[in-house]
Amino acid sequence: MAKLTSTDRGTRSDPDSFAGGYFRNAVYRHWDPHDIDLASDREALLEYEDEFTGEEFDMLRLGVARFGGGEEAVTEDLMPLGLALEGTDAQMFLTTQLYEEAKHTRFFDRYWEEVLDPVAEELGLEPADPTDERYLNDDYVAMFDAVEDAMAALLDDQSPETQTRAYSHYHIVAESVLAQTAYYSLQSAFGETGDDAVITRSREEMPTLPGLVDGIAKIRSDEGRHVGFGMHEVRRLVQEEGVDEAVVRGTLTELMPHVAGIFTDIEGPVDHGAIVEYARDKLTRRLDIITDADGEVPPVEELVAIEGADRGAAD
Ligand SMILES: [Fe+2]
Ligand SMILES: [Fe+2]
Repeated sequence: MAKLTSTDRGTRSDPDSFAGGYFRNAVYRHWDPHDIDLASDREALLEYEDEFTGEEFDMLRLGVARFGGGEEAVTEDLMPLGLALEGTDAQMFLTTQLYEEAKHTRFFDRYWEEVLDPVAEELGLEPADPTDERYLNDDYVAMFDAVEDAMAALLDDQSPETQTRAYSHYHIVAESVLAQTAYYSLQSAFGETGDDAVITRSREEMPTLPGLVDGIAKIRSDEGRHVGFGMHEVRRLVQEEGVDEAVVRGTLTELMPHVAGIFTDIEGPVDHGAIVEYARDKLTRRLDIITDADGEVPPVEELVAIEGADRGAAD
């Protein structure tokens, strides 16, 4: 526990430290999930009623239910990390991450309430609940159970190995690989300038959903910062604290089939091969940075630079 007098600088926080810089970046890039305009999304979905059939609309609901549920799960699972972090700046950074995960959860709930529910009603479809089990699958449940267990293990044991396992589950697989892949796919499917490899239909035949894309760009930007913090910590634990990199590799090997399984039952005009390849590429690049003695986590400004997520872009 830090003593209130344990600094020789006169203040307790240091914006020039690693974690202090991350805290500062999070505060600077603040955004409000309630400010995102969702009216055009409702209109676009109704306009594309013929191309974007009821079944495909339900796949969009599945995506929002599944990945909104993921945000809720990580919001609830993060807290035990506070026991393992040392120093005021790291604790301050953690408060921003917890706040941001809660904002991500709220954004997806709002999307459900203000876009998906009213559009379903307008189209004469059955109303649905985002927590309905039909939107989950076995891989999803196994993945988030594993993340919860790895984080809860910190309550009893904050050893470097347990910390490494927790970061590998949460920051590397759930945030860096699963969430970034999901959001990249949604942005590609419903953005104006997404990656065409992900969709199997021409862009003109897909509704453009600016509110969804705007919210996701901001969420991805926040996730870039969370992932950077986790990568920095895992790298330190492996390179400086002597944790065997097999702890990281073992977690990834165990969880990657679940990551793939979370995408493969999503039907509709999406290319699963392109999505899984994106996930694998992310994973390989993360692993290289952690295990290579000369590897470096890119600066936070670079990690949060996502197209459409510039500070003030929604103003
Ligand atoms: Fe998040
Ligand atoms: Fe996150």
